[in-house]
Amino acid sequence: MYLLIPAAGSGKRMGADQNKLFLQVRSQSIIAWTLLAAQAASSISWIGIISQPHDWEDFKAIMADLKLTKPIELIAGGSTRQESVYNGLQALPADAQQVLIHDGARCLATPDLLNACAEAIRHYRGLIAAVPVKDTIKIVDESGIIQSTPDRSQLWAAQTPQGFDVELLKQCHAEGVRQGWEVTDDAALFEKCGIEVHIVLGEETNLKITTPQDLAIAEFILTNR
Ligand code: C5P
Repeated sequence: MYLLIPAAGSGKRMGADQNKLFLQVRSQSIIAWTLLAAQAASSISWIGIISQPHDWEDFKAIMADLKLTKPIELIAGGSTRQESVYNGLQALPADAQQVLIHDGARCLATPDLLNACAEAIRHYRGLIAAVPVKDTIKIVDESGIIQSTPDRSQLWAAQTPQGFDVELLKQCHAEGVRQGWEVTDDAALFEKCGIEVHIVLGEETNLKITTPQDLAIAEFILTNR
């Protein structure tokens, strides 16, 4: 299975002056933990890291330290995650029929979850890892007034890995560019194009490392694993 790892973001919400994926958790960078999971997942045979070229020397140093044995390529990222994944899709080897996309910032996803998604995408055209939400969610307008309360039993929190048929995802991304859609995950492009996306049960610990608090939680989870 081909795996694309979007890793071209910044450290803005983290308050860091570098790509947050280089921040350390338990003596390894966030991206190193993500790559170790990809290396350990037996279903993954090729890894593409989508990242900003000015970060490539740092990525190469981390890859060398980890002594990864799988084929791995660096692909130039874009100014949004959506653009980064678009670039990643163009750089996939020609024989790629399905792809998993997994955010570099989700460094706690287990190899088992990557394998489960790789297995499931053999049966579906699109899927995402997700977990049922625990909080009651409110729709709120700009002035801070609650507009409605969606039925919690139907709400799931989207994670990555997300898996897709490559040709369909390329078409959905192209349609997104034509229509000017701005989305925060790839499943949303499938949904807008009217294509079914299935759920694979994700992991409560599969956090997207976004804030300094998330780093502390990740440290705790990795220490107790
Ligand atoms: O910013 P956020 O954590 O939501 O980004 C999700 C993932 O997308 C991260 O792994 C980040 O590195 C990646 N990303 C990207 N290209 C961008 C912005 C974010 O690959 N331009």
